[in-house]
Amino acid sequence: RGFLQILGRVTLVTVVGAAGTFWYITYKDRNPGPQLPFDPSKKTLVILGSGWGATSLLKGMDTTDYNTIVISPKNFFLFTPLLPSVAVGTLGAKSILQPTRYVARHKARQVSVIEAEATNVDPVNKTVTFTDTSPLRPLEPTRTIPYDYLVYAVGAETQTFGIPGVKERACFMKEIGDAEQMQARFLDCIETAAFPGTSEEEKRRLLHMVVVGGGPTGIEMAGELHDFLEEDLKSWYPELHPYVRITLVEALPSVLPSFSKELIAYTERTFKESKIDILTGTMVKGVSEGSVRLKPKDSKEHDLPCGLVVWAAGNKARDISRNLMAQLPDHQTNKRGILVDDHLRMLGAPSIFAIGDCTATSYAPTAQVASQQGAYLARMFKLIAKRDELARKLDELSKTSDGKDLEASKSKETESLAKQIERIRLKPFHYSHQGSLAYIGSDKAIAELPIFGREWTSGGVATFLFWRSAYLSTLFSLRNRALVAGDWMRTKFFGRDVSRE
Ligand code: FAD
Ligand code: NAI
Repeated sequence: RGFLQILGRVTLVTVVGAAGTFWYITYKDRNPGPQLPFDPSKKTLVILGSGWGATSLLKGMDTTDYNTIVISPKNFFLFTPLLPSVAVGTLGAKSILQPTRYVARHKARQVSVIEAEATNVDPVNKTVTFTDTSPLRPLEPTRTIPYDYLVYAVGAETQTFGIPGVKERACFMKEIGDAEQMQARFLDCIETAAFPGTSEEEKRRLLHMVVVGGGPTGIEMAGELHDFLEEDLKSWYPELHPYVRITLVEALPSVLPSFSKELIAYTERTFKESKIDILTGTMVKGVSEGSVRLKPKDSKEHDLPCGLVVWAAGNKARDISRNLMAQLPDHQTNKRGILVDDHLRMLGAPSIFAIGDCTATSYAPTAQVASQQGAYLARMFKLIAKRDELARKLDELSKTSDGKDLEASKSKETESLAKQIERIRLKPFHYSHQGSLAYIGSDKAIAELPIFGREWTSGGVATFLFWRSAYLSTLFSLRNRALVAGDWMRTKFFGRDVSRE
């Protein structure tokens, strides 16, 4: 009895403690305190973008050192790794978004968040021009502001190679709007196929989903589509299930070139079991209404009828990045993206720091790289603020005109300030690879993790559980974690929602 009493008390204390902690965290999150106002004596730091790089910087930086302004056409952070799950309705769109203002409101000094698209960066006069592109525009939708430092983190856009019909007819998988658009198109294919009198041939075409690109985005998208078709279409539209087909088209000889051979083979096997066709060595040459034009390596071009095309053929630089690079032709010579030094300063414009997918570096364009670069800059800006403050004091000292007897002490102070400045060393950026994970459908994932200096590879259901827990813990906030976990449970118990707006 004594043991049960102790156990009861321990359980009570644990439950009350956990509830109290949860309440405290959510209360603090929901009720941010007052912030320091902008300080005219501080330098202006402008951050372009609200993606992985920008948000990681904002989260990690001490905003008391700067007047910080964030400009992005999206007023939120998007957790891209779970975007394909939104496209098939496993997750709700809002579950993987975190409003940038939530992040900004928890900083010590006020951060100005402006929902607008930057249209030009002038690296010589150090200004940014931006425009409000929303339907309800203010009277003067375009503004130009000066910056002392600029963090350029605008990401990249989807590469189409100018292939005819791609922009007009294919669905991309980069923004939250892309996932919503794809879901609408996908459900349209299904409902149209279910319409009375639709011919067998038309049903087969409408329910043929083609994914272009065998990189991680294309593979994850094909896997998610398969899950929807197997787990939900089979239940809600049983008469359509025999017509369903998924094809993944990849121009290179193999899918997932950045993963190990074993994991490529494992993915190909899993896709075969899931009846997902893989066409490697096949280039998509065009997208028309109702088909894609294929050019296999060793045979003639032909059309493949389909209802939906998802385009996941990689990244290219945004127009604003190309314009910026064109202003510094002697330094910016790589069309793929912005060239930076080992401190992430843009070559030719040392007041601009460029991070993430908009850069051309030896790193892969991943969230991991962008977020580590953002976190690195947060640390660097602390040191830069310290260095700038010392430099300001030094400058002031040199301008003051003291009497002769003060000259000696002044030179001592000058020397000490100069020494302090010299001691501030900005370390170069170092990337630490934490491994790669990808979902391949049928509750299976693949993983490549560096453990004790060796590359550990794994694939299957256990890896899928690891994938889920890894992403759940990486999600931005407790709010996101609760929403995503809730969506996973909703899908497990009630299936994906097939209603259309
Ligand atoms: P982004 O995160 O794309 O952010 C760019 C920001 O700039 C956005 O907020 C955008 O609105 C803003 N912006 C755009 N134009 C302008 C403008 N003119 N002015 C101001 N702001 C602008 N990587 C991984 O490591 N692991 C994964 O599992 C993974 N899964 C992925 C799944 C999908 C479907 C996709 C598409 C990508 C995935 N990635 C993954 C890659 C990862 O998302 C990118 O590498 C990462 O988003 C790059 O971060 P970024 O900050 O450079 O750009
Ligand atoms: P990607 O560049 O990795 O792959 C695009 C693929 O499309 C290439 O293999 C290319 O050969 C193929 N392709 C291009 N044009 C084609 C055409 N006309 N016809 C047929 N195939 C064509 O792009 P992806 O998958 O969007 O990934 C971008 C970045 O994001 C990568 O660095 C990737 O590592 C990262 N990412 C990581 C994920 C993860 O770790 N789970 C998930 C998604 C993306």
